[in-house]
Amino acid sequence: MKVLVTGGAGYVGSAVARLLVDAGHEVVVLDDLSRNDASQVPAGARLVQARIHDAATVLTPDAGFDAVLHFAGLIAAGESMVQPELHWDNNTVGSLALLDAMRAAGVRRLVFSSTAATYGDPSELPLTENAVTKPVNTYGATKLAVDMAIASEAHAHELAAVSLRYFNVAGALVLPDGSMIGERHDPETHLIPIALQVAAGQREKLAIFGDDYPTPDGTCIRDYIHVGDLAQAHLLALEAARPGEHRVYNLGNGTGFSCKEVVDAVREVTGHPLPVEMAPRRPGDPAELVASSARARAELGWTPAKPDLRDIVADAWTFFRSGL
Ligand code: UFG
Repeated sequence: MKVLVTGGAGYVGSAVARLLVDAGHEVVVLDDLSRNDASQVPAGARLVQARIHDAATVLTPDAGFDAVLHFAGLIAAGESMVQPELHWDNNTVGSLALLDAMRAAGVRRLVFSSTAATYGDPSELPLTENAVTKPVNTYGATKLAVDMAIASEAHAHELAAVSLRYFNVAGALVLPDGSMIGERHDPETHLIPIALQVAAGQREKLAIFGDDYPTPDGTCIRDYIHVGDLAQAHLLALEAARPGEHRVYNLGNGTGFSCKEVVDAVREVTGHPLPVEMAPRRPGDPAELVASSARARAELGWTPAKPDLRDIVADAWTFFRSGL
C-alpha cells in the first residue's frame, strides 16, 4: 500500500512508519516538525514538512494513496488545560481538514490515534469501548470530537476507519539491527521519561502531581503499554478496517500502576534512588485509567509481546542512555 503517515516524525508515528517500511509499504510522512525533528523519520520514508491543515497539498487525487495513519496532534493533557485553543486547532480542526482532503482524493482507509483520555473519569474499570465518554481534559475532548467526525464520515461516505485508544505509551521499539526508536519530547511532560531524566542526573527530583486521589496510595493510576506492541496494533488495524465501519479499540495491558509504583519500577531498573516530592494535582488528570483490550485481542488478533512494566521501563532506559 501507499500510505500517508501524519505525525510520522513523532514517537509513535515514527515507530509505526518504520514497521510499515519494513513490511514493504510505500510511506510518506507528513509532519510540521513543530515538536519533532526530521532525524526521527525512518529511513525509507519520504518526509513532507507541512501542517496537518494543509494535508490536501500531499493527498491529491492523483497521488495514489491507499490509506492514512493519522498521528499528528498535540498530546499533553496538562498543556490542553492552559492552552486549549492549540489543541482544538491542531487536533480537531486539523483532523477535519485531513478528512476533507481524504474524501476529495478518494482515500478511503484510515487509522486514527485516539486516546484513553476520551473516557474521562471512568464509569467502569477496566474500561471497555462501551464506557461513557466524558473527557475531563481538553485534549481528550479534541480527540473525542475527531472520533465522532470519523464515525460520521465512515457511515456517510464509506470510509474504512479504526480509532485506536491508547492508554499510557512508553518504552522503545527495538529493531532487528539493534537500533531503537524511543520517546524524546521537548519539553518532556510524561512520567516515565521524566523519572529517567532524574535517574540520569538531568533533573534533581521528580514531582508527583497529587497524592490525594481516591486510589490505594493516593497517586494516579495508569495502564502502561509498550510502544512496540502499540505499533503492531496499527498494522493489524490497517488490514482490519472495512468500508462504512468505524471501529474503536482500547490498547493497554489491563493492569494499573500508581505513580509511586512507576517510580519504584524506575528505581529497580536504573538502580537510582530517585528522589521524589509531592506536588499539587495537575488539572485534567483522571484518577485511574485501566484498559480492557479484549476487543482488540479478539477482533484484531493483537497480543502484546512486552506487557510487563519493568520490561517497558528497561527499554525506555536503554534508549534514553543511548542518547546520553
Ligand atoms: N505525572 C507526575 N509527574 C510528572 C509527570 C506526570 O506525577 O512529572 C503524573 C501525572 O499527573 C499522571 C501520570 O503521572 O497522573 C501520568 O502522566 P503522563 O503525563 O505521563 O501521561 P497522561 O496519563 O497524562 O497522558 C498520557 C498521554 C495521553 C493519553 C493518556 C491516556 O500523554 O495522550 O496517557 O492514559 F491520553
